Amino acid sequence: MNHEVVEKNIGIMMILIVVAISFGALVEIVPLFYQAETTEPIDGLEPLPALALEGRDVYIREGCNTCHSQMIRPFRSETERYGHYSVASEHVYEHPFLWGSKRTGPDLARVGQRYSDEWHRVHLINPRDVVPESNMPGFPWLAKNTINGDETPLKMAALRKVGVPYTDEDIAGAKQAVANHTELDAVVSYLQQLGTLIKHTR
Ligand code: HEC
Repeated sequence: MNHEVVEKNIGIMMILIVVAISFGALVEIVPLFYQAETTEPIDGLEPLPALALEGRDVYIREGCNTCHSQMIRPFRSETERYGHYSVASEHVYEHPFLWGSKRTGPDLARVGQRYSDEWHRVHLINPRDVVPESNMPGFPWLAKNTINGDETPLKMAALRKVGVPYTDEDIAGAKQAVANHTELDAVVSYLQQLGTLIKHTR
């Protein structure tokens, strides 16, 4: 009888659906806030050095993350291709996360050290010079734009406010660390450290 009342009254039905979904979400999500493996950094995790941090911002600006995910799922088809599946503790210093799910190109979560710096340089300027069938766009301007390090210390200070452990020395040396580098240097330095704390399995 009661069930029939709920089924025939859309108002009550909606309220009960919201209650059920909210409860389900709380039960699934809240415990994650207290699990060390999702909040503690993996052994050896350091905040990104200044140049790689700038590279990450160029990566976001150019929309690399709209074609490349950075999250290897724990399935054999993924781990055989990309290496060890991604773990949350590798990403605790990232704001915002760049996990994504759209893969026009391959996942980049563990691309670090897989190619030489020179390979990345050629590939980013014109991908078809190293991968003839590639449909990735070229980003030739990265080699011409130099980084203005004025904002680098401010970015680090902002990240420190949300828990990334940059030291005063990191911040003080940031402008110097990016000086005389191009955006291409920065992106390559960002790519080369991706996922390197967990050994490649292939
Ligand atoms: C329109 C989609 C698209 C965009 C935008 C894009 N890529 Fe790609 N990327 C691809 C495709 C497709 C491939 C595979 C072919 C190749 O290697 O060039 C690829 C391959 C790569 C690889 C080699 C990965 C591997 O494991 O072999 C790297 C590194 C890479 N992209 C970095 C970048 C960076 C950095 C940017 C932004 C500056 C970017 N991509 C933007 C589509 C894209």
